[in-house]
Amino acid sequence: MKLIFLGPPGAGKGTLAVKVVELLNIQQISTGAIFRSAVSAGSPLGLKVKAIMDSGKLVDDETTIELVKERLAQDDVQKGYILDGFPRTIPQAEALAKFSTVEKVINFDIPDSLVLQRLGGRRVCRKCGYNFHVIFNKPAEEGVCDHCGGEIYIRDDDRQEAIQKRLEVYRAQTAPLVNYYREKKLLLDIDASPLVDEVLVIFKKALGV
Ligand code: AP5
Repeated sequence: MKLIFLGPPGAGKGTLAVKVVELLNIQQISTGAIFRSAVSAGSPLGLKVKAIMDSGKLVDDETTIELVKERLAQDDVQKGYILDGFPRTIPQAEALAKFSTVEKVINFDIPDSLVLQRLGGRRVCRKCGYNFHVIFNKPAEEGVCDHCGGEIYIRDDDRQEAIQKRLEVYRAQTAPLVNYYREKKLLLDIDASPLVDEVLVIFKKALGV
């Protein structure tokens, strides 16, 4: 199954994607995670995108589209994928339609108050990228990832100013994709407010899986 997860920053797209990957045996492709690995590695791509990401703005369409196009040409995604964080602009969606056929777009419906609570308390493993939360999903040992033993840190774009900027950018550049995909009859709205196990139940019911 070929899916897009669409929704504001902190809606829980990445967290649900980890569960859906297991359920449907498909690959998660997170553009944010790919950019973060490039930053950690200090690669030319990482050097190019670090300041943009830290400020909460979007990386340019050309760079992002090329990255996803290359990823979607690989063998392991031919039977299915979750695009987590892509597309984020109308030009990205138009480009995607030329190189892959998406079956459903899952729209994470969530109020801003919960987004702020989720982003404000998010902690991430530096090594494997697993998402924790200071209230909703604490690691067994503070500061240490349950899955790989890596160090847990706060993402640079989870600072208050960057969160506000990301929400503004979402409203201006990404929210128009909701109507874009609704008109194409691909959109499925899900209530992303409950805890993740319940969101998974809602997702399964909406998709019929
Ligand atoms: P990206 O990494 O994609 O960030 P985002 O869309 O802002 O999404 P987040 O990762 O912040 O949130 P999420 O919805 O995945 O929530 P999560 O599951 O972590 O992008 C980062 C940057 O990269 C962008 O700002 C941009 O610069 C660049 N970029 C990426 N893609 C791009 C593109 N296509 N074009 C241009 N630039 C691009 O959950 C958040 C927290 O809540 C966690 O702590 C989690 O434990 C907790 N939580 C999750 N679900 C629940 C739940 N149901 N109940 C309680 N807590 C929950």
